[in-house]
Amino acid sequence: MFDGLAVNYLDEGGGDQAVLFVHGFPFRATMWEPQIRLSVAAGRRAVAPDLPGFGGSAVPSDRSAYSIDGYADLVAALASDLGLGRVVMVGLSMGGYIALAVARRHPEVLAGLVLADTRADPDTPAGRQTRSDQQALVEERGDVIPLVDGLLTRVLAESGPRHAAVGATLGDMMRSTAPAGWIGALEAMKERRDQTDLLPSIAVPTLVVVGEADVIAPVDVAEAMAKAIPGAHLEVVPEAGHVANLENPEVFNRAFSEFLSTVPSERKA
Ligand code: MLT
Repeated sequence: MFDGLAVNYLDEGGGDQAVLFVHGFPFRATMWEPQIRLSVAAGRRAVAPDLPGFGGSAVPSDRSAYSIDGYADLVAALASDLGLGRVVMVGLSMGGYIALAVARRHPEVLAGLVLADTRADPDTPAGRQTRSDQQALVEERGDVIPLVDGLLTRVLAESGPRHAAVGATLGDMMRSTAPAGWIGALEAMKERRDQTDLLPSIAVPTLVVVGEADVIAPVDVAEAMAKAIPGAHLEVVPEAGHVANLENPEVFNRAFSEFLSTVPSERKA
């Protein structure tokens, strides 16, 4: 679906194993900076695309071009084009929806999985309606600004020590997202399939991470997901909401680093 589009990506470090980071909505690859630094320091190659519709990547104008499966095919193709071998895929929220679609559609790409602040079930009817209302608003106004403050309030834990700084970073990402990208990704999420049936068949080491105050993919949802994936480890991150990797990078990175050290690399395996 995203065939032939220009995709901007970060590509840092090197080593036997690559970590492929998939960002959430409506963010971009740079949301992974603390984890990219950690991965490179740990001797891994770190690759993070801006998904179509976001950052420096192309922005298809037609919402029907966007789907979670299309994003999954694109990140799997990127891994293959870059010769990454089997990767540790790290997805936050919408990035997690995409990582699960990769696990279903391209399991051969995965050496390990980190599912952060995400969920396997699809939108409820009310959730779908909210996304449709937001699409209509962005379309009518021709910009995303009316949605930014409300979304920032929803994603960040109020008590987070980095609340202001992370809010400023994420707010900039949100405000610079093209209306067509915003509408398209809402369409992709609204139409995504239920992945709960896939969870028991995930056969790679998996870490499930969730901010303790995440209201979009809350702790009980993460617990159920971790329970359904054989051998998965659950990490609940204090003083964090829906963007735990930025709100509390110390705790997130400690869990991520321990997890990385347990995943056999392509050549060592
Ligand atoms: C995200 O962070 O990717 C979104 O909040 C996910 C969603 O809206 O379902």
